[in-house]
Amino acid sequence: MSGPSDQPRLDILRGDSPRPRPSNDPHLGMSGCSDCGRSDVRVHATLPPTLRKGIANGRGQVQPRSKSHYMERHQRPLPESSLRSDPASIRKEYAMSESAAPALPHELIWSITNSVVTGRALHLVAELRVADHIDAETVDVEKLASLCGADPEALDRVLRLLVTQGIFARHRDGYAHTDASRLLRTDHPMSMSGFARMMGLPVMWSAMSNMDHSVRTGAPALELADPKGLWGYLQSHPDDAGVFGEAMMAKAQADIAAILSSYDFGAYPTIADVGGGRGHLLQALLEAHSSARGVLFDLPGVIEALEPAPQRLSRTPGDFFADPLPRADAYVLMEVLHDWDDPEAAKILAAVHAAAPAGATLLIIENVLSETATDVRGHILDVIMLTFTGGRERTVDQFDSLLDQTGFRRRSVVETSGPMRIVEAVAV
Ligand SMILES: C[S@@+](CC[C@H](N)C(=O)[O-])C[C@H]1O[C@@H](n2cnc3c(N)ncnc32)[C@H](O)[C@@H]1O
Repeated sequence: MSGPSDQPRLDILRGDSPRPRPSNDPHLGMSGCSDCGRSDVRVHATLPPTLRKGIANGRGQVQPRSKSHYMERHQRPLPESSLRSDPASIRKEYAMSESAAPALPHELIWSITNSVVTGRALHLVAELRVADHIDAETVDVEKLASLCGADPEALDRVLRLLVTQGIFARHRDGYAHTDASRLLRTDHPMSMSGFARMMGLPVMWSAMSNMDHSVRTGAPALELADPKGLWGYLQSHPDDAGVFGEAMMAKAQADIAAILSSYDFGAYPTIADVGGGRGHLLQALLEAHSSARGVLFDLPGVIEALEPAPQRLSRTPGDFFADPLPRADAYVLMEVLHDWDDPEAAKILAAVHAAAPAGATLLIIENVLSETATDVRGHILDVIMLTFTGGRERTVDQFDSLLDQTGFRRRSVVETSGPMRIVEAVAV
């Protein structure tokens, strides 16, 4: 476990450190793939050797994952002559990479072009609350459709698509849960339903379809729907704000456990969570550290919608661009800076600095962008921020530059077992 210290701990290399990769995979080496030399090893590592070679030669000599997979994709039987080893072993080999990236360049383009369809299907199924109507038993699609107010055949087709991704299982007598589809139940303690619904909100979806505006101008496309931007929009649309709040809690569920086990928050008597949303991180911190006190700071509309605060937690409504922030020993900013471009992010940090006693700790908890081409999650988030809020993901160097401008000195970057990292800095 890491804790506050003046010594750098698990510092990652500046800007070019990919997330740790499994080192026991003989396929992964410093120089990339042993079969084709491809350096994009994260995706590539999921492919069996025959596919890796196929990528290298770029021609159609790649074995499909199985005969049935080939049939599904190409609507014609797999030519026996194309098999280079026995079908059973190919099936076995390819079964491990059923959801791996497609092998051939044209399939890659096809697949990415259409990946939006699967995402949209997931939003809709979450919106219809299909998962809530399935428990331990398989449920007939007619019944599911009537419970959700859907057309049975259409719902069946959409669910079949999700089944290909491991979301729901399709049996002769209907649909059952998989581990992933169970997370779409709204009553699951780690529910991701809110997250899927948020990405499908019309305001988000329209911003996505207007991404060209962001690319042409650099401004968030969401501003076409509301010139006040995402936060202004949510303030005047409480139902969407409710879905957004649920989504933030949903996406943070798994991250919080990883964050708590990676850093000793118990060293700080008072912790302020700035832009802490519903206070889910802060509450977990206080539960883990019985002597700590917490202050949640967020916009008035967010704070006012909350249930009464539990013990040791106080709340301060306000705007971090206009109002003073609370005094604390440590300041947590989880996925807040990435909502903003550099000038605004620097203003937020300056506001924290103005409130913080000398020597106070700043903990920026978010994705730290790696400049390698393999940081798929980071680059997806980066484009989401470009489109929705005008923010950005940042490399360690970019965080350092913001910290230097605003009176902080970075101490370390702490890995967690999840996608988040903790950039720890001290107010100087
Ligand atoms: C992406 S959410 C992150 C929420 C939470 N920290 C988490 O990671 O789950 C960003 C938060 O910043 C808050 N926020 C946006 N603008 C703000 C402002 N001007 N002043 C205070 N909070 C603001 C939003 O209300 C929201 O709760």
